[in-house]
Amino acid sequence: MKKIMTVFGTRPEAIKMAPLVLELQKQPENFKVCVVVTAQHREMLDQVLELFQIVPDYDLNIMQAGQSLSEITSRALLGLEKIMQDVRPDIVLVHGDTSTTFAAALAAFYQKIPVGHVEAGLRTGNIYSPYPEEINRSLTGRLASLNFAPTSVAEANLIRENVDPASIFVTGNTVIDALLATVNQAYDLNTIPGLEELDFPHKRVILVTAHRRENWGAPMDRIFGAIRQICESYPAVEIVLPMHKNPLVRKQVYQHLSGLSNIRLIEPLDYQPFVQLMAASYLVMTDSGGMQEEVPALGKPVLVLRDTTERPEALAAGTVRLVGSDQGAIFAATSELLDDEQAYLAMAQAQNPYGDGTACKQIAAILQASRF
Ligand code: UD1
Ligand code: UDP
Repeated sequence: MKKIMTVFGTRPEAIKMAPLVLELQKQPENFKVCVVVTAQHREMLDQVLELFQIVPDYDLNIMQAGQSLSEITSRALLGLEKIMQDVRPDIVLVHGDTSTTFAAALAAFYQKIPVGHVEAGLRTGNIYSPYPEEINRSLTGRLASLNFAPTSVAEANLIRENVDPASIFVTGNTVIDALLATVNQAYDLNTIPGLEELDFPHKRVILVTAHRRENWGAPMDRIFGAIRQICESYPAVEIVLPMHKNPLVRKQVYQHLSGLSNIRLIEPLDYQPFVQLMAASYLVMTDSGGMQEEVPALGKPVLVLRDTTERPEALAAGTVRLVGSDQGAIFAATSELLDDEQAYLAMAQAQNPYGDGTACKQIAAILQASRF
């Protein structure tokens, strides 16, 4: 019997760790699972916990409005110390690249508890893009003794950094497990507040999300400037923008995109309706990491509002295109997809380089077989 502690704090970590928690909980003969949330995100985390019916054993409730990176990291680190001392798990599992991820890996290291890193090995090679995620995941990788890499590209990144190949397991990404568990549950999109009147069958819907720190300020001004231009140039197209909870992001959204009849600025959606919305959209524009994995699997084109990506697989497959934050480039790429059917069809190919939805089962089996 192994005592496994999972630590996560934000929406994307929760979505990608939830199926793993559920898988480990299904095997009580092998694992005793302790779920710790930092609640670096509050509402957006709780939405996911509720959907997957996960009740944390510990909740640090650290989120504060306008939190700085140092505040998140230090509050998580201090809160986790006592919990790890009390629980003494055999291993701590963290996910991805948030400040919670890095703080939890460091907290475990301070207690000499081994770390397992889920979604290990993603890299852009640029420490400021994405910021601070590239460093969060690199440092977490340095601390981890088990690395669950989603793809062979991620595995190769780790090997290049002299990580012991015996500690790396290519499992696919647990996001596909979450997506497959959710995608077939029917959902009436017109029940989403703000979308009651949207004529999904007859409209081309562009789904937009943006939140990245390196896009705050001038890049987001340009991104939202381009979205406004698209709204005005294509009045028959409908844009749906579920806004991130961050007030800084919201301020910029409202500044640029208020008062347009064909854009709907709505609250963050629960994962289940959000998956259905991605599937019902004509194309997606985003700076999200996770959506670069989900949307190609749903066969829709993704314009990535960033200069770099740590997810080159879908880029190579042609369903994802990096457009950065230049207003003209974003407008041109979107216009091409709206006006040129061949260009659209060339991108709208179902591609899923991120596994077959068995990542969590594989990780559970590796945990069971490993000594740590
Ligand atoms: C964080 C992660 C980022 C991840 C993103 C996913 C870090 C440094 N950043 O960025 O890697 O891609 O989450 O969304 O770890 N807020 C709420 N309610 C919520 C969530 C956020 O009000 O449920 C507001 C708070 O004012 C908070 C702010 O958003 O201070 C920013 O949250 P924070 O976790 O610091 O950064 P994100 O930009 O969300
Ligand atoms: N998502 C969601 N509701 C929303 C917007 C996004 O459930 O309103 C999901 C999305 O499907 C993906 C994850 O949240 O799984 C991505 O989160 P985010 O973009 O905040 O973080 P990132 O992936 O960039 O770290």
